Amino acid sequence: MSTSPFRREDGVLLADGVPLPAIAERWGTPAYVYCGDAIAARYRAFDAAFAAHPHRICYAVKANSNLAVLALLARLGAGFDIVSGGELERVLRAGGDPAGVVFSGVGKSRAEIERALEVGIGCFNVESAAELERIEDAARAAGRPAPISVRVNPDVDAATHPYISTGLKENKFGVATDAALDLYRHAAASPVLRVEGIDCHIGSQLVRVEPFVDALARVLALVDRLAEEGIRLAHVDVGGGLGVRYQEEAPPAPDVYARALLEGLRGRSETLVLEPGRWLVAEAGALLTRVEYEKPHEGRRFLVVDAAMNDLLRPALYQAWHEIVPVTEHPERVAGVADVVGPVCESADVLGRDRALDARAGELLAILGAGAYGFGMASNYNSRCRPPEILVQGGEARLVRRRETLEDQLALESPDGA
Ligand code: LLP
Repeated sequence: MSTSPFRREDGVLLADGVPLPAIAERWGTPAYVYCGDAIAARYRAFDAAFAAHPHRICYAVKANSNLAVLALLARLGAGFDIVSGGELERVLRAGGDPAGVVFSGVGKSRAEIERALEVGIGCFNVESAAELERIEDAARAAGRPAPISVRVNPDVDAATHPYISTGLKENKFGVATDAALDLYRHAAASPVLRVEGIDCHIGSQLVRVEPFVDALARVLALVDRLAEEGIRLAHVDVGGGLGVRYQEEAPPAPDVYARALLEGLRGRSETLVLEPGRWLVAEAGALLTRVEYEKPHEGRRFLVVDAAMNDLLRPALYQAWHEIVPVTEHPERVAGVADVVGPVCESADVLGRDRALDARAGELLAILGAGAYGFGMASNYNSRCRPPEILVQGGEARLVRRRETLEDQLALESPDGA
C-alpha cells in the first residue's frame, strides 16, 4: 500500500491519471490535490485487515476535513473521530452517520456537548472528571442519556516526535488508571450516563507496533478490572497513530498492525474501534506549487516557491520531511542542491532543505505526502489566501474547495470596529 498514487507518464507527474500541469493551469498554484481512489483503496485495505474481529473505523477528521473527503469515507461506511463542534457539523454535512461518531478532545464546550447529544453521537471520549460532570449535567438537561468512554492514559512511550506523542503520563491527554476507575464507577451509577467503552490514543506517526500492543494490554487490564466490579464495556478504542513513509520510515503495513492488535484481543468480544487519520489520507495528497524565483545566495541555492508554511506547516512546526519532486522531469539537467522556501517572512518558512532539485523559475513542483495535516493546519499568516483543494476520482478532477479570496479574508473585519 505504500505506492503513491502520483505516478509519471512521459516524465510528467499525474494524480490518478490526471496530469498535474493541467490542474495547475485550471486552478492555479499553490493547490492541494487529493487522489480519491487512493483514499478509498486505503480505507478498504485498513478495513479488510481487521475483518476477523468486530470493528469500527472512525476516521480522524482533523487529518483532512474537506467535505468531499469526508463524504467519500462516509459512503464507504466509515465512522468519524471528531474533536470539535465544527468537525461534527462537517461530518453531518458530508452525510456521515452521527451514531458512528466518537468525540475526543480535552476541552469540549457545553455548547459542543449539547449539540452532540442533540444529534445522537455514538460516544463521548471523556478526558477528565470535570468533563464527565459537564456531560452528565447536559444529558440530564437534555433528557437523554450520554454514551461515554473514558480516555485512559496508558503511559507508554510512542517514540515519535514529542509534539505528537500523547500517551505519556505528563501529556495533557486522558486520565490515569486509578482516576479512570472512579469515573467509571460514577458513570455506571448515573441514570443519565451510559458506559459504552474505553479509549486511548498514544500518539501519531508511530512506526512500530509494540507501543500499540503495550497500550492495548494496559487498557484491557483495566477492562477486566471493571468487569470484576460488574461494569462491562462494549468497545475498546485504540485511537489512531499508524505512521506512513515520508522518507526512510518503515511503518508496519495495516495487516501487520491489525494482526498485532487482534492477537491482543483474541477470545474477547469487545468491538475494536480505530481512529486512523494520517494513514488513510497522507500519501493521497500533494501540494502543487510553482517556482517564483531562483535565488543564489551566500553559497546556497534557494528556490522560492508560491506555497509557504501557512499552506503546509509540518516542515516548520515539526521539522517534518516531505518529498519534493519536479512535476515535469528534465533528465538532461544535473540536479544541484537547493532549499525550497516560501514567501512568508520567517526563517522557518522552509518546505525542504538540501534537496537534489534543478527546477527553474516558472516550473511546477509537487510536495508529496501532504494529504494529512496539510490544508487543515493552513492559516492566513501574512494575509495569504488559503489554497484550493482538488479531488481526483475516476480520472476526473473536481474543485472541492475554491481558493480563498482577499474578500473572504477581509469580510470578517472592519477598520472602525463593528
Ligand atoms: N485520535 C485522536 C484522539 C487523535 O488525537 C489523533 C491525532 C488521531 C486519532 C489520529 O491520529 P493519526 O492516525 O492521524 O496519527 N499535526 C500532526 C499530527 C497531530 C495528530 C493529533 N491527533 C502532524 O502533522 O503530524
